[in-house]
Amino acid sequence: MISSGTPAVDVSDRDDIDRLVRRFYEHALTDPTLAPVFEVLAIVGLDEHLLVVGDFWEQILFRTTRYEGNFLPVHRALHAHHGLTPARFERWLELWVGTVDELFAGVHADRAKSKAEAMVRSLQRGVQRPSATG
Ligand code: HEM
Repeated sequence: MISSGTPAVDVSDRDDIDRLVRRFYEHALTDPTLAPVFEVLAIVGLDEHLLVVGDFWEQILFRTTRYEGNFLPVHRALHAHHGLTPARFERWLELWVGTVDELFAGVHADRAKSKAEAMVRSLQRGVQRPSATG
Protein backbone atom coordinates (compact mmCIF):
# COMPACT_ATOMS: atom_id res chain seq x y z
CA MET A 1 0.00 0.00 0.00
CA ILE A 2 1.40 3.40 -0.91
CA SER A 3 1.15 5.74 2.04
CA SER A 4 -0.09 9.27 1.47
CA GLY A 5 2.11 12.01 2.86
CA THR A 6 2.61 15.64 2.00
CA PRO A 7 5.65 15.77 -0.27
CA ALA A 8 7.03 19.28 -0.42
CA VAL A 9 9.99 18.85 -2.74
CA ASP A 10 10.41 18.30 -6.44
CA VAL A 11 12.71 15.73 -8.04
CA SER A 12 15.92 17.71 -8.40
CA ASP A 13 18.91 15.44 -8.98
CA ARG A 14 20.15 11.89 -9.52
CA ASP A 15 19.90 11.07 -5.83
CA ASP A 16 16.20 11.92 -5.96
CA ILE A 17 15.75 9.76 -9.06
CA ASP A 18 17.52 6.86 -7.36
CA ARG A 19 15.25 7.25 -4.33
CA LEU A 20 12.16 7.35 -6.54
CA VAL A 21 13.23 4.32 -8.56
CA ARG A 22 14.17 2.27 -5.49
CA ARG A 23 10.86 3.06 -3.83
CA PHE A 24 8.94 2.16 -6.99
CA TYR A 25 10.67 -1.23 -7.06
CA GLU A 26 9.82 -1.84 -3.40
CA HIS A 27 6.20 -1.58 -4.47
CA ALA A 28 6.52 -3.38 -7.81
CA LEU A 29 8.50 -6.36 -6.54
CA THR A 30 5.84 -7.15 -3.96
CA ASP A 31 2.85 -6.44 -6.18
CA PRO A 32 0.89 -9.61 -7.05
CA THR A 33 0.22 -8.44 -10.62
CA LEU A 34 3.78 -7.38 -11.46
CA ALA A 35 6.04 -9.48 -9.23
CA PRO A 36 6.04 -12.56 -11.52
CA VAL A 37 7.50 -10.45 -14.36
CA PHE A 38 10.12 -8.81 -12.15
CA GLU A 39 11.41 -12.21 -11.05
CA VAL A 40 13.82 -11.96 -14.00
CA LEU A 41 15.74 -9.43 -11.91
CA ALA A 42 16.99 -12.28 -9.77
CA ILE A 43 19.02 -13.23 -12.86
CA VAL A 44 19.75 -9.78 -14.31
CA GLY A 45 20.64 -8.34 -10.90
CA LEU A 46 18.54 -5.70 -9.16
CA ASP A 47 21.37 -3.23 -8.53
CA GLU A 48 22.46 -3.32 -12.15
CA HIS A 49 18.88 -2.84 -13.28
CA LEU A 50 18.29 0.09 -10.92
CA LEU A 51 21.34 1.85 -12.39
CA VAL A 52 20.00 1.47 -15.93
CA VAL A 53 16.53 2.64 -14.96
CA GLY A 54 18.09 5.59 -13.09
CA ASP A 55 20.00 6.55 -16.26
CA PHE A 56 16.79 6.28 -18.25
CA TRP A 57 14.92 8.71 -15.99
CA GLU A 58 17.89 11.03 -15.57
CA GLN A 59 18.04 11.43 -19.34
CA ILE A 60 14.31 12.06 -19.55
CA LEU A 61 14.10 14.57 -16.71
CA PHE A 62 17.47 16.35 -16.78
CA ARG A 63 19.38 15.21 -19.88
CA THR A 64 22.51 14.97 -17.73
CA THR A 65 23.34 11.41 -18.72
CA ARG A 66 22.85 9.14 -21.66
CA TYR A 67 20.69 6.06 -21.47
CA GLU A 68 21.91 3.57 -24.06
CA GLY A 69 19.76 0.59 -23.28
CA ASN A 70 17.43 -1.67 -25.15
CA PHE A 71 14.10 -0.38 -24.04
CA LEU A 72 11.80 -1.96 -26.62
CA PRO A 73 13.60 -5.31 -27.20
CA VAL A 74 13.80 -5.93 -23.44
CA HIS A 75 10.07 -5.44 -23.01
CA ARG A 76 9.27 -7.45 -26.15
CA ALA A 77 11.14 -10.38 -24.62
CA LEU A 78 9.28 -9.91 -21.33
CA HIS A 79 5.99 -9.79 -23.21
CA ALA A 80 6.84 -13.03 -25.04
CA HIS A 81 7.67 -14.86 -21.81
CA HIS A 82 5.27 -13.40 -19.28
CA GLY A 83 2.67 -11.36 -21.13
CA LEU A 84 2.83 -7.61 -20.58
CA THR A 85 -0.94 -7.40 -20.50
CA PRO A 86 -2.97 -4.17 -20.43
CA ALA A 87 -3.74 -4.94 -16.75
CA ARG A 88 -0.02 -5.12 -15.98
CA PHE A 89 0.71 -1.85 -17.81
CA GLU A 90 -2.13 -0.14 -15.92
CA ARG A 91 -0.82 -1.45 -12.62
CA TRP A 92 2.75 -0.37 -13.50
CA LEU A 93 1.50 3.16 -14.20
CA GLU A 94 -0.64 3.25 -11.09
CA LEU A 95 2.36 2.28 -8.93
CA TRP A 96 4.69 4.74 -10.67
CA VAL A 97 2.28 7.67 -10.30
CA GLY A 98 1.57 6.65 -6.71
CA THR A 99 5.27 6.47 -5.89
CA VAL A 100 6.02 9.87 -7.46
CA ASP A 101 3.16 11.41 -5.47
CA GLU A 102 4.31 9.67 -2.32
CA LEU A 103 7.75 11.32 -2.46
CA PHE A 104 7.70 14.40 -4.68
CA ALA A 105 5.67 17.29 -6.01
CA GLY A 106 6.52 19.86 -8.68
CA VAL A 107 7.33 20.37 -12.34
CA HIS A 108 9.75 17.45 -12.65
CA ALA A 109 7.48 15.17 -10.66
CA ASP A 110 4.66 16.05 -13.04
CA ARG A 111 6.88 15.30 -16.04
CA ALA A 112 7.92 11.98 -14.52
CA LYS A 113 4.24 11.06 -14.43
CA SER A 114 3.18 12.39 -17.82
CA LYS A 115 6.23 10.89 -19.59
CA ALA A 116 5.56 7.53 -17.94
CA GLU A 117 1.96 7.60 -19.10
CA ALA A 118 3.01 8.37 -22.68
CA MET A 119 5.60 5.60 -22.59
CA VAL A 120 3.17 3.07 -21.24
CA ARG A 121 0.93 3.80 -24.22
CA SER A 122 3.72 3.55 -26.80
CA LEU A 123 5.39 0.55 -25.16
CA GLN A 124 2.07 -1.25 -25.04
CA ARG A 125 1.71 -0.74 -28.81
CA GLY A 126 5.40 -1.53 -29.37
CA VAL A 127 5.44 -4.94 -27.70
CA GLN A 128 2.55 -6.07 -29.88
CA ARG A 129 4.17 -5.05 -33.17
CA PRO A 130 6.37 -7.57 -35.02
CA SER A 131 9.99 -6.75 -34.15
CA ALA A 132 11.03 -6.21 -37.80
CA THR A 133 9.06 -2.94 -37.89
CA GLY A 134 11.07 -1.62 -34.95
C1 HEM B 1 3.87 -3.94 -17.62
C2 HEM B 1 4.76 -2.97 -17.36
C3 HEM B 1 6.23 -3.23 -17.17
C4 HEM B 1 6.87 -4.30 -16.61
C5 HEM B 1 6.24 -5.54 -15.96
C6 HEM B 1 8.29 -4.05 -16.72
C7 HEM B 1 9.29 -4.93 -16.27
C8 HEM B 1 10.63 -4.78 -16.57
C9 HEM B 1 11.65 -5.76 -16.30
C10 HEM B 1 11.44 -7.10 -15.60
C11 HEM B 1 12.83 -5.29 -16.79
C12 HEM B 1 14.21 -5.98 -16.77
C13 HEM B 1 14.32 -6.87 -18.00
C14 HEM B 1 15.73 -7.36 -18.30
O1 HEM B 1 16.71 -6.66 -18.02
O2 HEM B 1 15.85 -8.46 -18.88
C15 HEM B 1 12.53 -3.98 -17.35
C16 HEM B 1 13.45 -3.15 -17.94
C17 HEM B 1 13.25 -1.80 -18.09
N1 HEM B 1 12.05 -1.14 -17.94
FE1 HEM B 1 10.28 -2.00 -17.67
N2 HEM B 1 8.49 -2.85 -17.32
C18 HEM B 1 7.27 -2.30 -17.59
C19 HEM B 1 7.04 -1.08 -18.17
C20 HEM B 1 7.98 -0.08 -18.26
C21 HEM B 1 7.74 1.31 -18.58
C22 HEM B 1 6.37 1.90 -18.90
C23 HEM B 1 8.94 1.95 -18.52
C24 HEM B 1 9.28 3.40 -18.75
C25 HEM B 1 8.43 4.40 -18.57
C26 HEM B 1 9.95 0.95 -18.21
C27 HEM B 1 11.30 1.18 -18.08
C28 HEM B 1 12.26 0.20 -18.14
C29 HEM B 1 13.68 0.43 -18.44
C30 HEM B 1 14.36 1.76 -18.71
C31 HEM B 1 14.29 -0.83 -18.40
C32 HEM B 1 15.76 -1.15 -18.68
C33 HEM B 1 15.87 -1.62 -20.14
C34 HEM B 1 17.33 -1.84 -20.55
O3 HEM B 1 17.93 -2.84 -20.12
O4 HEM B 1 17.85 -0.99 -21.28
N3 HEM B 1 9.33 -0.26 -18.04
N4 HEM B 1 11.20 -3.70 -17.21
